[in-house]
Amino acid sequence: MKKILVIGAGAMGTSFAMTCVDNRNEVTLAEPYSLNFIEDLKKNKKHSGLGLKIPKKIKLSFFSENILNKRWDLIVIALSSSGINFIGKKLKNCKVNNKILILTKGLIFEKKTKKIITLSEKLKSFKKGSNISVLKGPCLAKDLANKVNSNVIVANKNLNIARVISNMITTSYYRVEVSNDVRGVEICSSIKNIYSMIIGAGKGLNMSSYLFVKCLDEMTYLTRYFKGNIETVYGLAGLGDLYVSALGGRNSKMGYYLGKGYKFKVAKKKFMKNDTIEGEMLLREIAPYITKKLNKKKIPLMTKLIKSIINNKKLVLN
Ligand SMILES: NC(=O)c1ccc[n+]([C@@H]2O[C@H](COP(=O)([O-])OP(=O)(O)OC[C@H]3O[C@@H](n4cnc5c(N)ncnc54)[C@H](O)[C@@H]3O)[C@@H](O)[C@H]2O)c1
Repeated sequence: MKKILVIGAGAMGTSFAMTCVDNRNEVTLAEPYSLNFIEDLKKNKKHSGLGLKIPKKIKLSFFSENILNKRWDLIVIALSSSGINFIGKKLKNCKVNNKILILTKGLIFEKKTKKIITLSEKLKSFKKGSNISVLKGPCLAKDLANKVNSNVIVANKNLNIARVISNMITTSYYRVEVSNDVRGVEICSSIKNIYSMIIGAGKGLNMSSYLFVKCLDEMTYLTRYFKGNIETVYGLAGLGDLYVSALGGRNSKMGYYLGKGYKFKVAKKKFMKNDTIEGEMLLREIAPYITKKLNKKKIPLMTKLIKSIINNKKLVLN
């Protein structure tokens, strides 16, 4: 039995905590952002986002800095990308060097260095020498919580560490591959949120299939550009996650409205007012770099989406 701390009681953090308990680990789920949410969860044991009762074995707590200073076999970060700076600052003050696993997907444009960095690189900038792995892949939180078979990938430059984590969290319905291409896995699992919007904008399956192929070409180009491995694009963090996001999810839903001719702001207000569109957030984050540094001819679809969202203009794909 291992001691696992999951930070973030959103849909993914809670599903992941449920899976870890199924693998007979001792799990604490800590929420740093929404006090009301965790209080409600403690009281009712029902997760409103997942629509499910959560196992009594999961210890629920409001996040405090002290919790990071305990000894854990694994600390899991399952916050939205907007929570990465918050947790980085907390880790900086932490005295114990626990193993960390990031579930969050996203990239950061560093204004100072004018570079795009991954979330694991961002966390390492707060605390050098941190032992950080990443977990990505096609995994809808609701499916995982309902124990529907899911396959994901853990990456660490040291494959042995990735294997240790894989053993800790694998269950009969949650299979965990390993990789040492940390960059590739982080790049692919982030940009697929942008590309699933583009695929969602296809008018009909024929066009979406064509866009799927072209999006994969662009993902290959970008992964190579950002020094990830090409094989990763065709694995769970790339193609695998692109497929699940294109078929269902908030990004492709937004893409659908853009494809119907709605401008982003109108579609957001009219149909998805309370939804976080991760692809849009990432696009705004990396656009200053992408538009200046990259050859637009190599990424025509992303260039069109950037123009459409940033300028709030109709999306024209052909
Ligand atoms: N690796 C995987 O297999 C996998 C699968 C699905 C989702 N994800 C990723 O996990 C992340 C969380 O997804 P989710 O569906 O649970 O989202 P969610 O919206 O349900 O939960 C987000 C969590 O982040 C917290 N949060 C939000 N803003 C914050 C801030 N500014 N500071 C601190 N905490 C903040 C919330 O309180 C909540 O705990 C996303 O990046 C998503 O892409 C990963």
